[in-house]
Amino acid sequence: MHNRYGKLASWVYDLDKPVGRSFGDVEYYLQRLAGCDGPVLEPAVGNGRILVPLLEAGLAVEGFDASEEMLFYCRQICGARHLPANLTRQTFDTFSYDKRFAAIIVPAGSFQLVTDVGTARAVIARFRDHLQPGGRLILDLDPAGAFGGPAMSVRSWETDDGGLLTLTDQRVETDHVAQVTLSHLRYELWREGRLVDTELDLFRLRWWGVTEFGLALEAAGFTDVTVSGNYAFGRAPRDGDNIITFEARWPG
Ligand SMILES: C[S@@+](CC[C@H](N)C(=O)[O-])C[C@H]1O[C@@H](n2cnc3c(N)ncnc32)[C@H](O)[C@@H]1O
Repeated sequence: MHNRYGKLASWVYDLDKPVGRSFGDVEYYLQRLAGCDGPVLEPAVGNGRILVPLLEAGLAVEGFDASEEMLFYCRQICGARHLPANLTRQTFDTFSYDKRFAAIIVPAGSFQLVTDVGTARAVIARFRDHLQPGGRLILDLDPAGAFGGPAMSVRSWETDDGGLLTLTDQRVETDHVAQVTLSHLRYELWREGRLVDTELDLFRLRWWGVTEFGLALEAAGFTDVTVSGNYAFGRAPRDGDNIITFEARWPG
């Protein structure tokens, strides 16, 4: 299975990007959702890095994620902070709610984990079908340029109990037609110089052209599409931006 976010991957994510870490996105989503008085959905909610500050700001946010291990971290911090944890294990392609949301947010490029373009279009339609009339979809994409960086990296994190977690990230395939990369993410847990656990994630990501994604939103019936670079709302993306954010309205 691809893009699994298993035990070690989720542990690394929570050490590297805990609640409290922002890339400018926490402030941006807080700003874009200010005054939103309906329920908000965060698909691929992960460890709650975005959800928790939104809940603390008084927004009615709920989330789903494919990884039970990621949801564990999210539930744990919501419990510790006495926040409502409306969290379920669901996936992009099959998620379902019997209510409609005022906004759906997909930060951190998570939508790019859906690598089949037909499935991705169906997911956009599923987002639309879960929005109230007038509701907004706000979604981040990593720019195409981010997919051509170094093909290999090694990083490490110390754990609270004296262990060492390492992540070796090796890009092994790039399909320029499908716009998909495949990386091998090898996670290892070391204690006292011994390897005690390891995990390999076959990690696929799809990049989108800016125009391509805007057209996909319009084809699904979204209107008022605004594309912004580096979390400056309304500032058209420029070459070299780190992140591109789409905001679009479902007229109903
Ligand atoms: C980059 S993390 C984002 C977490 C969080 N939204 C944030 O901004 O920090 C991506 C998340 O997508 C989840 N995920 C991967 N494939 C998924 C799928 N098909 N459906 C739902 N969630 C998925 C992973 O488990 C992981 O928690």
